[in-house]
Amino acid sequence: MSTLSSPEVLRRTGGRSIKSIVFDEREIARRVRELGAEVTAAYPDGDLLVLGLLKGSFIFLSDLVRTIERPMQIDFLVASSYGADKVSSGTVRLLYDPETKLEGKHILLVEDIIDSGRTLQRLLGLLGGRRPRSLAICALLDKQLAPVRPPELRFVGFRAPQAFLVGYGLDHAENYRHLPFIADLDS
Ligand code: IMP
Ligand code: MG
Repeated sequence: MSTLSSPEVLRRTGGRSIKSIVFDEREIARRVRELGAEVTAAYPDGDLLVLGLLKGSFIFLSDLVRTIERPMQIDFLVASSYGADKVSSGTVRLLYDPETKLEGKHILLVEDIIDSGRTLQRLLGLLGGRRPRSLAICALLDKQLAPVRPPELRFVGFRAPQAFLVGYGLDHAENYRHLPFIADLDS
């Protein structure tokens, strides 16, 4: 892995150096493969619908689904809770609703990171009302700040530090999503 202020990193960030790489490409790839195997084993039968929460999950989801060895459908939903701020606004808006039928299917909601857990709580209520066969969450990162851990949180990639993380889909004001590693931006 290149150093934090190497030309290779700075070319990608536009000159902004980062504080640390929290999870590098290799660690992420290894853990995603393990999660894929866990998901494959957890759903021996039935229809599986993988629902990616945009935009943060787009890279994680695309890597994850290629490690799951069973049939599935993929759709997305869009919720918004942060805007351009680093602090959660507390309100979650659903901007795009999946068109795929949820009833009777195993729903696996794929999230980039769980912070306060509010986004998740809101989505669980909403999706649970559509009578899926089961409802579970796969989150790449969990800051473990949620007051209660929902039983639906079945697959977690990494316990995350309580820093503001970017890369591998995670943004700050829509920047840095493309970084192949997960970094702590703050200096
Ligand atoms: P929660 O509702 O507070 O759990 O926030 C979850 C959402 O906030 C995630 O889906 C992310 O989009 C965003 N978020 C939370 N923490 C971070 C972070 O450290 N970096 C980037 N986005 C984050
Ligand atoms: Mg975001």
